[in-house]
Amino acid sequence: MTLPATLTPIEDPLWYKDAVIYQIHIKSFFDGNNDGVGDFAGLLQKLDYIVDLGVTAIWMLPFYPSPRRDDGYDISDYRGVHPDYGTLADLREFVVAAHARGLRIITELVINHTSDQHSWFQRARRAPAGSPERDFYVWSDTDTKYAGTRIIFCDTEKSNWTWDDEAKAYYWHRFYAHQPDLNFDNPAVMEEVLSAMRFWLDLGIDGLRLDAVPYLIERDGTSNENLPETHDIIRRIRAEIDAYAPGRMLLAEANMWPEDAQVYFGQGDECHMSFHFPLMPRMYMAIAREDRFPITDIMRQTPAIPENCQWAVFLRNHDELTLEMVTSSERDYLWETYAADKRARINLGIRRRLSPLMQHDRRRIELMNGLLLSMPGTPVIYYGDEIGMGDNIYLGDRDGVRTPMQWSIDRNGGFSRADPAGLVMPPIMDPLYGYQAVNVEAQAAGQHSLLNWVRRMLEVRRRHRAFGRGTQRFLYPGNRKVLAYLREYGADNGHGETLLCVYNLSRSAQAVELDLHDFNRAVPVDVIGG
Ligand code: NOJ
Repeated sequence: MTLPATLTPIEDPLWYKDAVIYQIHIKSFFDGNNDGVGDFAGLLQKLDYIVDLGVTAIWMLPFYPSPRRDDGYDISDYRGVHPDYGTLADLREFVVAAHARGLRIITELVINHTSDQHSWFQRARRAPAGSPERDFYVWSDTDTKYAGTRIIFCDTEKSNWTWDDEAKAYYWHRFYAHQPDLNFDNPAVMEEVLSAMRFWLDLGIDGLRLDAVPYLIERDGTSNENLPETHDIIRRIRAEIDAYAPGRMLLAEANMWPEDAQVYFGQGDECHMSFHFPLMPRMYMAIAREDRFPITDIMRQTPAIPENCQWAVFLRNHDELTLEMVTSSERDYLWETYAADKRARINLGIRRRLSPLMQHDRRRIELMNGLLLSMPGTPVIYYGDEIGMGDNIYLGDRDGVRTPMQWSIDRNGGFSRADPAGLVMPPIMDPLYGYQAVNVEAQAAGQHSLLNWVRRMLEVRRRHRAFGRGTQRFLYPGNRKVLAYLREYGADNGHGETLLCVYNLSRSAQAVELDLHDFNRAVPVDVIGG
């Protein structure tokens, strides 16, 4: 299927508001040359699958040259493609093909840190202290500076400083020790970052996810997160994108409380989009407690955002299901409920996919997807969740949720013809979630499969602009096991629509009375069945 020709970002500058984003990992999607690693050639072959799913944009995890010790978030060259995934020409071909089918492409701009293998870091450690080359990164003679800063990868790192023997100094890193933080107080760093950004914009990339964006700047006596100077940097990046390639989009990865996350929109002059991190665990909380309160409460705390901005809503992604934005008692509750097996826990989160979290319960999977697709914002679907893929908590780090896409019952789940021992990651093979049981081919053929259900829901969403653009108004029926809200759009121009979304968060049937007196004489129509 080919989508109708889409407007370009210039013609439709708010395209991201009506988008549905599909998040993929090149490495794990499809192996076009059968060497065991997914690649752009493979992704190109599967483009029609993505179009048929009904999404409108693809977010690709980092595919740049990298030692891949943080699965590609440790970049050693900002302007290339990892040779395992193909060439720059392959990527170009893919972007052109995706655009021709009406899909937009979102990639990663990882600017908080590089790999320690990046030539800038190699140069910095050898350069004299105080030189502009050395100052590409953040150095100190002691490891006690910025003591008030939390450690994010708390399972692996003991400090945000690591000693470098060559430089004879400590360097600063908010993530793994092999990922030194760039120094944004050095104007040359900013210039390099903008130049890398222009490189990808020239290639036609429609959106950039700003990885780890709250941590760009360090200042004594602060938490070193969300600093005003960091927002200055983001405004500078936004100004550049608006001037150089208007209509392209910036998406902030700011794992923060709503009032801090909201600041990443600025006055509509920072990021166009930002993930709604606090909403995500509260959707899991609401169905575990059979109570709408966690959702209504966090949305009540969510401030209004500028007209040209949009939240990104998600259930799962390539990282652990982060529980940073909940209280410690809520975290304990969610850990107990969803990760009783301690192997499923990592840092402050849970390394599981949606289907295992829902204990393979199709109705709860649908419930969660219903929330995902109807909450204010643009939904992001993690590859494989549309078929209910499982995970492997025996793999290290977060690899368990990054296993090969399951295409069919063929060898390696149809992901690759390579020797199974040579695969980049072992496919899931257990009886419940293995590729024999869960795969695209079987689900495409089954009318009532999860895959076809997701396709139908995306079709429904596409027909109603209120999902992407409308306001949200909660109804508060007496029965708290029922979550009900209105999504309203365009009432002012006479062509408005009002969508009523009702969810039973409990395990059993519920009676509910909704106060809809505002809609006297209106006739409700089921958006799914007509
Ligand atoms: C955020 C990414 O989502 C995560 O996968 C990565 O490990 C960290 N940034 C550090 O780069």
